[in-house]
Amino acid sequence: MTIKKDQFTYEKSSLFQDAPAREPERQLYFCARVKDLMRARFEENLASGEALRRYGEVQLKQMEESGACATFHIETYGCQMNAKDSEKLSGLLIQAGFMETDTEEADFVLYNTCTVRENANLKVYGHLGYVHSLKKKRPSMLVGLCGCMMQEAEEVEKIRKSYRFVDIIFGTHNIFKLAELLFDRLTTGQMEVDVWEGTSEIVEDLPADRKYPFKSGVNIMFGCNNFCSYCIVPYVRGRERSREPEDILAEIRRLASEGVKEVMLLGQNVNSYGKTLSTPISFAQLLRRVEEIDGIERIRFMTSHPKDLSDELIRAMKESKKVCTHLHLPVQSGSTRILEKMNRRYTKEQYLALVDRIRTAIPHISLTTDIIVGFPGETEEDFQDTLDVVRRVRYDSAFTFIYSKRSGTPAASMEDQVPEAVVKDRFDRLLKEVQQIAGEVCRRDLHTVQAVLVEEKNSHMEGFVTGRMSNNTLVHFPGTEDLIGSIVNVYLEESKGFYYMGHREV
Ligand code: 5AD
Ligand code: SF4
Repeated sequence: MTIKKDQFTYEKSSLFQDAPAREPERQLYFCARVKDLMRARFEENLASGEALRRYGEVQLKQMEESGACATFHIETYGCQMNAKDSEKLSGLLIQAGFMETDTEEADFVLYNTCTVRENANLKVYGHLGYVHSLKKKRPSMLVGLCGCMMQEAEEVEKIRKSYRFVDIIFGTHNIFKLAELLFDRLTTGQMEVDVWEGTSEIVEDLPADRKYPFKSGVNIMFGCNNFCSYCIVPYVRGRERSREPEDILAEIRRLASEGVKEVMLLGQNVNSYGKTLSTPISFAQLLRRVEEIDGIERIRFMTSHPKDLSDELIRAMKESKKVCTHLHLPVQSGSTRILEKMNRRYTKEQYLALVDRIRTAIPHISLTTDIIVGFPGETEEDFQDTLDVVRRVRYDSAFTFIYSKRSGTPAASMEDQVPEAVVKDRFDRLLKEVQQIAGEVCRRDLHTVQAVLVEEKNSHMEGFVTGRMSNNTLVHFPGTEDLIGSIVNVYLEESKGFYYMGHREV
């Protein structure tokens, strides 16, 4: 493990001498220490009247009721992994005496960044400009940056130089250290930068603040070994590391005991789960064991790499009563020539044959995908192959992306970058095709009764709730808040293209 650490002149050992060396005890200790520091500040602010000005009556009352002494806000970009990391970060902050707010006007604002495409980075810089203006008005405010973008040395350098108001920077490998970094920042007054280049450490059993009480993501592995030639993920998330099955199962059992009905097993490439463990286990075997856990009614997973999707997994999905009828299977391109340059390690024909095997075993499954348009060297003929795959597979939905040049990846130095206008035109044609097919496919369950997990009150229609079918399609129907978190039968009476209107069957 390499640790890149800012060289500051202060002597840390005196501040940290009581801290336990072991995790997670060490981080729980720092949560308590940060809470003490924040409480002292809060009490000063209460006495001076600043607290009332800062938080307003309503928020201040909420803080007092929950025992919080500061507020935080996390802006999360990117994938499900980041969303899950943000739940862990929130959990640590709550433990450290913070309460969540929904705007950036908070005592601590943290940006959990993504760097998969360039516009994700640009968004972060836009927000930094805004938060700087807030910090000028409230200098005690803390600003943090973490996530994939921070694993890139040039970005960290740029922030160090041009965004001096940032207080802490850390990467994807040490999110568990948030409280320690905050303590460090609060006691030294220095910008705290702690980005690890990699790790073999997986710290378990820290608090997490789950967004929904009835469903939860569960990390089963971290990192990626695939090195698709356009993708920065293997460089910023490191090599593949699987969690021990017993740790995963224990976490899911605990979630089930807390009322969670649906789990989403998370990894960049779940199909290669378990291969590097000292006692290897396949992803299909893991699924079968999750299936046995009482209380869990739905199992989802993300993301599957087509090259590793085994017949054993298709069988496990077919035989399962809990695995949802939805599979996200990124194709990226329909052209074998481009797939090879992308280092995807399957051909157009192999992908289509895999889809056939899946559909033969599970005819009603919904398939979704990711597609990149404008990869270097993509010709009109290659693009036609992508359209051909879209027409043959008939996806329920597809995330379509314009190729973004990520420096450090092999594709960034490939010749024949496709002109912007050509890419834009292809992108528009692809989107039209995808949307038209999705609109047709998504109505396939019209006039049937489906099990729906109710997720929230409908924010647009009074007296309605919104839930998801097993295949991930949204359904709106008349219902009350007390249904949230339960699975109910809903008759699908009208298809609106990408969602249904229905009514409850009792
Ligand atoms: N440009 C465009 N899209 C990309 N993705 C990953 N890297 C890039 C890139 N450089 C897309 C892929 C991946 C999804 C998460 O993001 O389609 O599946
Ligand atoms: Fe990136 Fe490919 Fe790994 Fe997915 S499988 S994270 S696209 S390198």
